[in-house]
Amino acid sequence: SFLGNSMVSDWAESLIQTLGRDIQNAAEESIKRSGVFHLALSGGSSPLALFQRLSRHHHGFPWKHTHLWLVDERCVPFTESDSNFGNIEKHLLQHVRIPYVNIHPMPVQRNQRLCDIEDMGNQTYAEDIFALVGNASFDFVLLGLGNDGHTASIFPGKEDGIYGRSTVLLTESPQKPHQRMSLSLPLINKAQKVAILVLGKGKHEILTLISRAEKTPKKWPIHGVNPTPGKLVWYIDYETLLR
Ligand code: 6PG
Repeated sequence: SFLGNSMVSDWAESLIQTLGRDIQNAAEESIKRSGVFHLALSGGSSPLALFQRLSRHHHGFPWKHTHLWLVDERCVPFTESDSNFGNIEKHLLQHVRIPYVNIHPMPVQRNQRLCDIEDMGNQTYAEDIFALVGNASFDFVLLGLGNDGHTASIFPGKEDGIYGRSTVLLTESPQKPHQRMSLSLPLINKAQKVAILVLGKGKHEILTLISRAEKTPKKWPIHGVNPTPGKLVWYIDYETLLR
């Protein structure tokens, strides 16, 4: 158990295999129940191996009935290597048969401008979620943990993403690229299942910090990830745990 939630730990390759299988099981369950699977994915480097695994090893995966959403995005064109959607496209979408209309990238670039407050791309995204995802409750949300303790694109000390409404926010990262778009934690917390994937010894320190800190969401956004009990699972590899 980790911070009172379920935890799966293993060597990275097996951990990714388990997570891939858990996502596929969640997809099959959701489709049986509602005919559709709404999956929201994070970016960063950790999920790349998962994307590759999902594209290569899960031949029975019900992509046809899967809708793919973004948890967060860096405000750069999709063609840049920093782009979360760009990476999902390259490592996953190009290799699986998912209907074009089921793919929902965050609208970070319109009319040559990036994540512009006046452009309201974030609100459009929130509207799409509320229109297409039943009760705005994603079936599966994949999160990561940044070395500085951010999750999704909610950064430590930024309370507006932790409290407040179920919505899509424009946020700012201390690291480049600074401008981000992110699901708010209240929106993430409505999900049926939430997974937090933590890989590599580089994450040992932050994991130790947050596990020892008092569980007030004020400091560490990850403590504000509180879906209904039993719905959150941490996937942490041995490298991170043991260092
Ligand atoms: C982002 C991600 C972010 C990610 C963490 C971990 O765009 O920054 O969606 O929330 O999960 O930063 O990223 P790494 O796996 O690269 O450490």
